Amino acid sequence: MVGELSRRGLLRTLAAGPLLLSPLRSLGRQSQQDVRAASRFAPTRHPDRIVLNVAEDATTQPVCWRTSPEVESAFVEVLEAPRGPIDAKQARRIAAVTTPLETMLGPSHRHKALIDGLRPGASYVFRVGDGERWSEWSSFRVYSDGQPFRFLYLGDSQNDILAQVTRVARAAMLACPDAAFAAHGGDLVERGDRDDLWGEWFESYTPLSRSVPFAVTPGNHDYAIPDPNNRDRRILPDIWKRQFTFPANGPEGLRDSVYWFDRGNLRFISLNTMERLEPQAEWLERAVTANRKRWTVVMFHHPVYSSGNERDSEARKRLLEPLFTRLDVDLVLQGHDHTYARTGLVANDEPASDRGTVYLNSVTGPKMYRLTPARWHRSLAAQTQLYQIVTVSDEELGVEAKTVTGELHDSFRILKSADGRKRLVEDVEPRVYDPARSEANA
Ligand SMILES: [Fe+2]
Ligand SMILES: [Fe+2]
Repeated sequence: MVGELSRRGLLRTLAAGPLLLSPLRSLGRQSQQDVRAASRFAPTRHPDRIVLNVAEDATTQPVCWRTSPEVESAFVEVLEAPRGPIDAKQARRIAAVTTPLETMLGPSHRHKALIDGLRPGASYVFRVGDGERWSEWSSFRVYSDGQPFRFLYLGDSQNDILAQVTRVARAAMLACPDAAFAAHGGDLVERGDRDDLWGEWFESYTPLSRSVPFAVTPGNHDYAIPDPNNRDRRILPDIWKRQFTFPANGPEGLRDSVYWFDRGNLRFISLNTMERLEPQAEWLERAVTANRKRWTVVMFHHPVYSSGNERDSEARKRLLEPLFTRLDVDLVLQGHDHTYARTGLVANDEPASDRGTVYLNSVTGPKMYRLTPARWHRSLAAQTQLYQIVTVSDEELGVEAKTVTGELHDSFRILKSADGRKRLVEDVEPRVYDPARSEANA
């Protein structure tokens, strides 16, 4: 039984978390057991934290999940979705790769499986388990080369996730149930080594994460562990690498955050602004030009044009912006600023009319920052939680930025002609929503 004393102890420990390198390291054995027992997010034999991730090609579907260590072998079962009752005997069973992971919530087993050979356009149902204890059956549809298709973009979730991000995740799923994938631009949680916060993240994004493959890139808050070889650096915790799967096509040493995948005429690329950018820039050039698609979208955490200009990084801008101009990247998706901010077409750090890149940052969670926009921003919002629906067709790349209450804050399309010239069409008049500035809501 968990007493009030240990619950208070847990709260004190968690409240002190940001000041401590490892909130549980200094606790005695009994206290650690109390913390684990008091957490609703401790692992059990029943599978949880089930997430679909993107693979290079949509005919392979990775799935990851977690159990307590008693589950030594785990499986995914899958079959094409019947219109009536599911007969498990008809399912294909695929063994997972199972590895142990010790976190603040105690020992766990993390499982990863690849469902291969999927038929484009078909719907499947799958469940995960150990042969006795199974998850519910969840369904997903395999992307096929139809036009147009849509995906979701989500900025920082990060704080008070279970309480305040859940409604955004649900609104996004209801608004775009056919998303080919969902992309999250970093700061998924406030501290990436806190497994209880990951429990909140998975609960908030369920069932979306069980029906739409996620593409994630880390932010500064996901990097939570000090580098033992360099006190100024932090490293990506094992939890990140073990609970998600990534297309294994990134630069050596960065394959848990830097990667590309194709869906139809789109190449989607994840970069990692927390680590060495120079090798990523070299890799990006090859990733864009090797198999040129009509549209190139790049996602990473720290904005090139910050909507809090005191947070600008000249070094990052000097490296990335000319590269995006030269490679003719169409759209850059970012987070970190805890605002909504979107530029017009920008080429060589100047506004452009028929070429260049649109830069957008957004926020999902409740942490909010002030707006101090950069020169090229056109549509801005403070004190607003949003999700973005991106629509991809041969002719245009469209983005709708919707508030959690369902209002369309921003809507624009990048049109591209046969010779590659672009035009930006703004379907909602660009505006600034900022309750802190009395007459700014124009
Ligand atoms: Fe951040
Ligand atoms: Fe953040």
